[in-house]
Amino acid sequence: MIKGEGMTLEICKKYAPNKDNLIQILHEIQDTHPQHYISPEAVDTVAEYLHVPANHIYGVLTFYTMYSTTPRGKNIIRLCESPPCYIKGSENILRKLKIILGVQTGETSRDGQFTLELCACLGVCGNAPVMMINDDVYGDLTEEKVEEIIEKIRRER
Ligand code: FES
Repeated sequence: MIKGEGMTLEICKKYAPNKDNLIQILHEIQDTHPQHYISPEAVDTVAEYLHVPANHIYGVLTFYTMYSTTPRGKNIIRLCESPPCYIKGSENILRKLKIILGVQTGETSRDGQFTLELCACLGVCGNAPVMMINDDVYGDLTEEKVEEIIEKIRRER
């Protein structure tokens, strides 16, 4: 009998119970969770479904930085910290984001709306500095532009 969150099991069942599908399953679980993370219960469910040890799944979760095992905000901000973005001032953007959101890197804002993370090159260096918020890419960032983007998202939610 497979235990755990019903939603996780539903996601698992979309895939064949083959450990080659682990990465995709974990992605979908994290993307659909309102707090964008993979809970211990979800790990247990996936482990049972794929017949792999939970430790193997935790190994994968710690290897790939895109996964989180702690609850995160509704909106995940990923600011690129690779050299081309750094040279174009990503440090100033980071400082601005920390002030606006009242968080340090890796933290979630008090209202649960935003988690601030750093990431490697997002593949759009021509528009450096760049950040992603959920699936949307924002380039040619300035401190003013960042403020407008965050305000707009806050208004929309
Ligand atoms: S270095 Fe930032 S997008 Fe490539």
